[in-house]
Amino acid sequence: MKIAIDGPSGAGKSSLARAVAKKLQIIYVDTGALYRSLGYYAKEHGISADDTAAVIAMLQNVSLEMKFEGGEQHIYLDGRIVGDEIRTPEISMYASKVSAIPEVRTFLLETQRQIARTNDVIMDGRDIGTVILPDANVKIFLTASDEARAKRRLAELLARGIDTTFEDVLTDMRQRDKNDSSRAVAPAVQAPDATLLDNSDMTAEESVLAAIDIIQRKLAEKKKKTKSTFYTRLHFLVAGLIRFILRVKPVGIENVQNGGAVLCSNHISFADVIVIAVSLPRNIRMRFLAKAELFKIPLLAPLIRALGAYRLDRGGSDVGTIKKSIEIAKSGEIVVAFPQGHRYTGQNPADTPIKNGVGMIAYRAKVPMIPVCVKVKGAKYGLFRRVNVIFGQPIPYAELGFQKGGSDEYRNATEQVFSKICELGGYVKGEELK
Ligand code: DC
Repeated sequence: MKIAIDGPSGAGKSSLARAVAKKLQIIYVDTGALYRSLGYYAKEHGISADDTAAVIAMLQNVSLEMKFEGGEQHIYLDGRIVGDEIRTPEISMYASKVSAIPEVRTFLLETQRQIARTNDVIMDGRDIGTVILPDANVKIFLTASDEARAKRRLAELLARGIDTTFEDVLTDMRQRDKNDSSRAVAPAVQAPDATLLDNSDMTAEESVLAAIDIIQRKLAEKKKKTKSTFYTRLHFLVAGLIRFILRVKPVGIENVQNGGAVLCSNHISFADVIVIAVSLPRNIRMRFLAKAELFKIPLLAPLIRALGAYRLDRGGSDVGTIKKSIEIAKSGEIVVAFPQGHRYTGQNPADTPIKNGVGMIAYRAKVPMIPVCVKVKGAKYGLFRRVNVIFGQPIPYAELGFQKGGSDEYRNATEQVFSKICELGGYVKGEELK
């Protein structure tokens, strides 16, 4: 895992990254220390940070190594470990100036990348998300107002016995921000895919919690994405195969678009959701609820998941099913529901009773209803028997006649969609099944 934390000086990158590293048990890499060590070396050798040629020449002679001992970063400059001497305001300015020299950045590039190649790291700096680790799993751009940052830096310097004032720190900081963000190479800017975290009004602890929240969210999003790509591919394969085997003929799929909706179907068998799912193109995400037990069956679980199954925990009561369906439709997905409430094999749907549930789902989620009729000869699935899956036009929410909810309104809406379903299948009350 690679986590990149970039941002201006004094935003609290290092203490945040250190705390996150501890929590996630990964290595914290402070890249600023590398630039500081070079700045320090220049100063020690009487080289002006503004003398670009001299700084470049200096790189030939300097021996700089970054080692991790007991999980702690140590920088060896000419064989000895550097300490707090690189943390003074004077060295900060040296570091900022030498860091603008492209040769200096190239000189340090491999040292930084190497450590991330072989370890899980959280690395802080200015160009980690943009240049050093462009493929980092999570990128955060940590920032705060000038004043908030200067205040924190002042407290830090005073605590270390460095005598300075707020005004000096603020002026230095602004100068350094300007150098770091306006330089030609690897300026300190937010990567397009980084999450901005402004911690001006946060305590150190709150910033850490906010960063961890971002990291967890980003990692979960990526996992979901990889998973959903897998299922989209599986859906493509499985759907084609099932359509072929069950002789499924979809009609009117152009009536179904992504977005929250209740797809209402007549109910003949458990196979209904399957034939509906395989009829829809793979870019349309459709959900149906399946009992938790089904997800425990080894081969079936990935299959139904690929087709859009959503695990229904705690039994499969009507109330639970309706609640979950509302949630799914509200979140912008299409959920399949059955106005009849249960299966009626071999019966003319126009002659069966209906329940109010789908009306309630549409009302609560404020979504349209899409009628679909699963038509099989004799309303019974059979070997080599063609299955027509006919999708009708969505009935917009505004046309479902809702005012303030309640069972009468739910019933009316359910009846409206159900009569459409029967119409699509050519089912008429009292007629013999064909
Ligand atoms: O993060 P810091 O304040 O310790 O960094 C010191 C200087 O080094 C900073 O002014 C800019 C530079 N730097 C950089 O250019 N790129 C990095 N990845 C880290 C630091």
